[in-house]
Amino acid sequence: MTERADRRPIGVFDSGVGGLTVLAELRRRLPDEATVYLGDNDRAPYGPRPADEVRRFTLEAVDWLLAQDPKLLVLACNTATAHALDDVRARSAVPVVGVVRPGAVAAAAATRTGAVSVIATAGTVESGAYPDAIVEASADTTVVQLACPELVPMVEAGILEGRRAESILRAYLEPLLSANPGVDTLLLGCTHYPLLREPIAGIVGPGVAVVDSAFTTALAVEDLLDVLGARAPAAGTDAHRVATTGDVAAFAMVAERLFGERLPAVEQASIEATAALPVD
Ligand code: DGL
Repeated sequence: MTERADRRPIGVFDSGVGGLTVLAELRRRLPDEATVYLGDNDRAPYGPRPADEVRRFTLEAVDWLLAQDPKLLVLACNTATAHALDDVRARSAVPVVGVVRPGAVAAAAATRTGAVSVIATAGTVESGAYPDAIVEASADTTVVQLACPELVPMVEAGILEGRRAESILRAYLEPLLSANPGVDTLLLGCTHYPLLREPIAGIVGPGVAVVDSAFTTALAVEDLLDVLGARAPAAGTDAHRVATTGDVAAFAMVAERLFGERLPAVEQASIEATAALPVD
């Protein structure tokens, strides 16, 4: 590591609360780093929206984060990463890490049979980002994916276990796994889904590894900070900001219910709609 310690925060973006799973992993792995998180709850969910709308919303939200002077951005939303990573990189003066490639690398590393299943939002599935990234990481892999539109609302409603969660998950997972003979790896391609890891692992059984992007994204960020010589000084920090475009109290309540942890006072973010954004 170089002497060029950089105290600026890591900016983390998600459409809502799901990216807090990535933030939690970043904070565990990089406890000295300051963070600033933005959830675009006012316009969530992104999953069912058309690609050009997701791209526009993501770029507008990223402008808010860039105004907070981050040293690096993490798109902690699979749907935003799938549709907008290249555009965000083109717009940002600081490096941008998405969650699709780290998740794909984890899945490619985990599979022994070369049969991987992916669950994600409709937008992420339609983009084909995961099959492309997994095959890029490991060419002989067969990827079968499924959109699970009921899962994000279920998580947001705080339903993380029990009979209802179990039956919704079974209805998605059992046909998905039968459609992919020999599957030994299930990739959770949405930042909300790690909160359902336990019931998912129970349904798929011990023969299927359940992987997500949070851990490998934190690793990728750590590597990048080292390459850039941009780690924060090793003194630890409590400089963590959390903002939402939606209702501050509702965000704090959902986040606390899901993570069992009190957040720093949640800020209200107001995002400018930017008519001149490059959307094709
Ligand atoms: N955070 C989003 C993702 O990872 C899911 C929530 C949404 O649809 O906005 O794809």
